[in-house]
Parts: sequence; structure tokens; C-alpha cells
Amino acid sequence: LKVLVKEIKELRSMIKSWRREGLSIGFVPTMGALHEGHESLIKRAVAENDRVVVSVFVNPTQFGPNEDYDAYPRNIDKDLKLCMNAGATVVFNPEPKEMYFQDKSTSVSVSGLTDVLCGAKRPGHFDGVCLVVSKFLNIVTPDRAYFGQKDAQQVAVIKRMIRDLNIDVEIIPCPIVREEDGLAKSSRNTYLSAEERKAALVLSRSLKMAKKALDNGERDAYKLKELIRVEISKEPLAKIDYVEIVDGDSLNDVEVIERNILVPIAVYIGKTRLIDNFTYEI
Ligand code: PAJ
Repeated sequence: LKVLVKEIKELRSMIKSWRREGLSIGFVPTMGALHEGHESLIKRAVAENDRVVVSVFVNPTQFGPNEDYDAYPRNIDKDLKLCMNAGATVVFNPEPKEMYFQDKSTSVSVSGLTDVLCGAKRPGHFDGVCLVVSKFLNIVTPDRAYFGQKDAQQVAVIKRMIRDLNIDVEIIPCPIVREEDGLAKSSRNTYLSAEERKAALVLSRSLKMAKKALDNGERDAYKLKELIRVEISKEPLAKIDYVEIVDGDSLNDVEVIERNILVPIAVYIGKTRLIDNFTYEI
């Protein structure tokens, strides 16, 4: 069995034969530069499905004009090894021209949920994510698709998209995988210098403080956000992009915490934009 597939036609014929055998299919979409965060999604998919497809595709349509599309780390040989060791069946690694037509006629856009947080800071980003994920779901037709809570807004947007477009797939959100010192694993961590790597700890540290305050009964969202902001502002290399407290489902702003919330932050460490979050159940 061929493990690296670059053409849609070839992947589709593999999928068809699995379907004829009555096998279940799990799907893990990624942009490569895989780490233990991605690996945890793949292992979960392997545990829950007969066959697992991992896509490795740095999706041009989700990067803004001044973002890091060209610089984004690429290493397909290493990624392929990680996928195979984790038990994936195939890695789908198409070229951009295999995925996109020149005329760009069709778009997929979820409104509301994408107007806040990263959607507000990265115009067009979630349109690109929705377009590529809907294309992948049409190609792979998985029973289950696996997404990390690291990108909590992405999970909310994808769930809404599959609901609205009646896409027959179960979305499985998976917990954030962290380095031992707390930094959420990210392909973009490779951009950090040694000094920035230390500074980046301010994200998980400030969230931990907010969680502790919640445990101690704090219910004022403004005070919690201020606590996070103050902690981040102590770090000279850090610049806040946003600190928010929102409803976990609607992503609407919350003032008084009385149900399940999401606390997402985005912080520049030097030129590198990092995100982190936690959810809190009341
Ligand atoms: P990428 O950033 O490569 O992430 C692929 C998947 O891995 C996402 O679902 C992401 O949430 C998850 N992930 C990344 N870091 C994680 C961590 N530390 N712990 C747990 N899960 C983690 O997200 C994308 O790619 C793209 O937007 C994509 C969905 C592939 C569409 O292009």
C-alpha cells in the first residue's frame, strides 16, 4: 500500500475500496511540521477508526498577505515518518495546484463566529480554513475528523460549518498538548529564539493564574482579563494581540461568568504570533 499520496484521484480510489470493505475512516487535517500535538490527534484517530488519512498541506488560502505562508516550516519526510509511526494509513500531501483552480469561484464563509478573536485579527483566515476543510471532507468522506482545542475558534467554526452544510462527519475535539514547561506545542514555536522561547511561557503562565482565580471564585470577566493582561505586560518581549473571555459555544463576549467559558489569548513574542486558551466549566 502506498503511504504518500499526492493526487485526489488516487486517494479517492483508496477510500472507495475501504468503503466497499465496510471500514471506518478517520481524518486528521494538518499543515505539517508535525509535533506531539498533531501526533495525539493521529493516535486518537487510529484508536477509533479502521483507516486514518492525515493531510499535510500548507493551505495558501488561509494565510493573509503579510503572514508566514512562505516561511511556514515544511518537512514532508519527517512528517511521513511521524504519521506512519503513529499508525496512520496514508498521508495526503497535494500540491496547491491539485487543490485549487485559478478562478477561485467558490468560497465557504461562516459568519458571526468568525468576526471575533483570530477571525477579527486575521481577515479571510477562516474562509480559507473552511474552504480547504470542506474540500478535504468531500474528498476523504471520513466518519470522524479530529481537531485540536489549541485552535478553539477553529473547532467552533468547523462544527458550525458542518452543521450548516449537512456534512456527515463527527467532529472530535482533542485536548491541547504542551511542552513540559507549559508552552502549547505549535509548529510556529520553531520561529522562537532561545530568549523568546523563555518569554513565550508568559502565555500558559498567565492563563494558569486566571484559572486559579476562577477556582478561587472570581466571576468578573474584566478582572480576570486584567489579571492576564498585567502578567503578559511584565514580559518585555511580549505584545498582546487579544485577551478575551467568551461563551464556549457562541464565542460571544461574557461579562459575568456563570456557565462554560473559553479564555483565548493571542500574543506576539517578537514577530511570532502565538495563541493559547483554556475552557472552564462552571
Ligand atoms: P495545524 O496548525 O497544522 O494544526 C492541525 C491540527 O493540529 C489542528 O486541529 C490543531 O488544533 C491541532 N494542534 C496543533 N497544535 C496542537 C497542540 N499543541 N495540541 C493539540 N492539538 C494541536 O489547524 C490547521 O493546521 C489548519 O488550519 C487546518 C485545519 C489543517 C486547515 O488547513
